[in-house]
Amino acid sequence: MRIKNLIVFGTRPEAIKMAPLIKEFEKHTDVFETKVCITAQHREMLDQVVDFFDIVPDYDMDLMKPNQNLYSLTADIITGLKPFLEKFKPDYVYVHGDTTTTMASSIAAFYSGAQVCHIEAGLRTFDKRSPFPEEMNRSITGRVTDYHFAPTTTAKENLIKENIPKDQIEITGNTVIDALQLSIEKLSHSDFENTEVKMLKDTWNPEKRLILVTGHRRENHGQGFIDICNALAEIAKKHDDVQIIYPVHLNPNVQKPVYEILENIENIKLISPLSYPGFVWLMNRSHLIITDSGGVQEEAPSLGKPVLVMRDTTERPEAVEAGTVILTGTDTKKIVMEADRLLNSKDAYDKMSLRHNPYGDGRACERIVKFMKNKL
Ligand code: UD1
Ligand code: UDP
Repeated sequence: MRIKNLIVFGTRPEAIKMAPLIKEFEKHTDVFETKVCITAQHREMLDQVVDFFDIVPDYDMDLMKPNQNLYSLTADIITGLKPFLEKFKPDYVYVHGDTTTTMASSIAAFYSGAQVCHIEAGLRTFDKRSPFPEEMNRSITGRVTDYHFAPTTTAKENLIKENIPKDQIEITGNTVIDALQLSIEKLSHSDFENTEVKMLKDTWNPEKRLILVTGHRRENHGQGFIDICNALAEIAKKHDDVQIIYPVHLNPNVQKPVYEILENIENIKLISPLSYPGFVWLMNRSHLIITDSGGVQEEAPSLGKPVLVMRDTTERPEAVEAGTVILTGTDTKKIVMEADRLLNSKDAYDKMSLRHNPYGDGRACERIVKFMKNKL
């Protein structure tokens, strides 16, 4: 009898970080029968990733609704997973990170009697409202998890502080580095001159220094996004040798302020969310990244790109400690001041553009599968 695995995810970052694990389990079909379920908490942004990595989900819950709320999404995931869990009867359910899909599907898996494996376990800010609701999502998931795959020693220490037994925690590195390497490898074997890169080549002005921007955090909705957009407008105005490219998240709470404030500024280009390879292509060409994203904070150091993080706290302290990431919050003045400093001083810029890999070496999935095999 093979071990039955169910991998569940629902948003863009979970898909990116679970894709290499799916590929790794595909190498071990003699031991594991692995099925994939997508909640589709995201739709277009999820499908972009699933298509690029050639993942064919066994079950698509197709849950996304426009401007969805946390209450109904949580309920829909738990009740929607029940029939599939009861039919497939997985031994292990793998969830990733800290989204509503992560928290709700880990609870559903626990109800089904399956054991829960949490990928990217142990990240904490210890501030339950920041990021919201992610800090609580990952803490709740941690309570029902049986095996915690921690990306770093800091993450493992956080779990030990919560009395998780050491033999249930494995340090693996973050699977995002596996995904980054997999996508670079995949691109080297294919003709990547697709329509998206053609569009990017038309959008990107190589004579200007590129600032790449992303943002979506719920706690920044409202005034936070207005302050962020005002900062970007000011940076664009002050530095005409700079071009800002901003693939705007599809959340209406993000789209509205961003398009209202930034649409008609000459050296700011607002574009649709990019496919993963398109975004990696642009990250590689950027001079500076300004973001509130978790995943981008992990990818940028391995590409040697300085990052300003528009948050007050981070659960990813490693790059801050190494000096390649700076927390600015959403304060307009602080964002502009830090951007000015990096754009005006070569010395300050060089210190922050150190290439390093605090989040992994590209072998996280190999370690996860090895750990699971050793348990047999
Ligand atoms: C979610 C996660 C967040 C994660 C982020 C990654 C929660 C509570 N939030 O936030 O942890 O960092 O994804 O991007 O789990 N939308 C579309 N198409 C898409 C995706 C989103 O139209 O492909 C729009 C829809 O109107 C949707 C809204 O965005 O209702 C919000 O999506 P949701 O997943 O609830 O929140 P995110 O801000 O994307
Ligand atoms: N990303 C992408 N296309 C984009 C913007 C980001 O593929 O237009 C990738 C990025 O490389 C990273 C992930 O999406 O791997 C981060 O997703 P997001 O910021 O939405 O979520 P978070 O990481 O904050 O949970």
